[in-house]
Amino acid sequence: MTTDEKLNYGTFEATVERSKELEDNLQKNPENYKVLTGDRPTGRLHIGHLFGSLQNRVRLHQLGVQTYIVIADYQVLTDRDTFENISENIKQLTIDYIAAGLDPEAGNLWIFPHSHVPELNQLLLPFLTLVTMAELDRNPTVKEEIVASGQKRINAGMYTYPVHQAADILFCKGNVVPVGKDQLPHLELTRTIARRFNERFAGNTTVFPEPQPLLSKAPLILGLDGGQKMSKSRNNAIMLSATEDETVALIKKAKTDSQRLITYDPEKRPEVSNLLMLISLSTGETPEAIAERIGDGGAGQLKKALTESLNEYLRPLRSRRKELEENMDYVRDVLKRGITQARAVAESTLEEVRKVMNMDI
Ligand code: TRP
Repeated sequence: MTTDEKLNYGTFEATVERSKELEDNLQKNPENYKVLTGDRPTGRLHIGHLFGSLQNRVRLHQLGVQTYIVIADYQVLTDRDTFENISENIKQLTIDYIAAGLDPEAGNLWIFPHSHVPELNQLLLPFLTLVTMAELDRNPTVKEEIVASGQKRINAGMYTYPVHQAADILFCKGNVVPVGKDQLPHLELTRTIARRFNERFAGNTTVFPEPQPLLSKAPLILGLDGGQKMSKSRNNAIMLSATEDETVALIKKAKTDSQRLITYDPEKRPEVSNLLMLISLSTGETPEAIAERIGDGGAGQLKKALTESLNEYLRPLRSRRKELEENMDYVRDVLKRGITQARAVAESTLEEVRKVMNMDI
């Protein structure tokens, strides 16, 4: 290792501050930035993803920022054995993205699964030599995922996927990565790899920029059971692909409390407040104003209001979704275009990497 500096997985407050500054600069000079972000293809997306991250991506793309979205299919295999649905999930994820407003026809937007970009994956090899086993072992998100997986045998991909994620980000020299808090350790590792690469192989010139995380401002969306984050695996989510009737049925079963008067109080009344927040995100009204309007209408009125506003809000998205599901050739074409672009960029980065590493012939 060329440097003795320690990899620091902490400093959340500093990240929040830097994230605000970055947000200002993005508004002023979108042309200076390249967004890279992504998801694992483990299933379809739900309204927690929509309000938590998809809308933020749409906003950045519409500001004019170049946007790469990686579908991290290899990463699916880090904590589960099943791979039967990966192909289908890649396409469903792509449909969710486009339906949510990420428009591939607007230009400057590419969606691709990383398994189709060999030159990206090859960056993993030099990157692995820039980190220690101890550093990989200390990653707090990986530690949590190991516990959550419930697996006795942990494969090496679980420890090394954050390095692979650095390749996902750095292959196109992405410099802004919109992510949730759980991804910050991976971002810190990516920054460290970029820095060490530049120091060790590039005489301190900048082959790789140090990407900055952009934390989403969206509130945490709880599941319909009120207690925990919305998540498909906890069975407390409303999927973007759900029908209006399914949405009615899900909201009917949502947890509330026994107080008739509806008030917005996230501390004391998390379930009711979460439903108010979902109405607010659908209509643009403040949750307080919505609560006041419902008054002592109780949980029944609250759920009725949520069902109506959410179904109305999701209607255009769901209809686009349906159209896309009937036009899989188009979805495949979007992915093919994404792969072509990603490969061209990755190839040129890999060439640069070989050169500075004295591996050209
Ligand atoms: N690890 C991310 C997740 O589980 C997915 C991901 C893979 C990613 N590569 C990325 C996110 C690059 C941001 C940037 O959600």
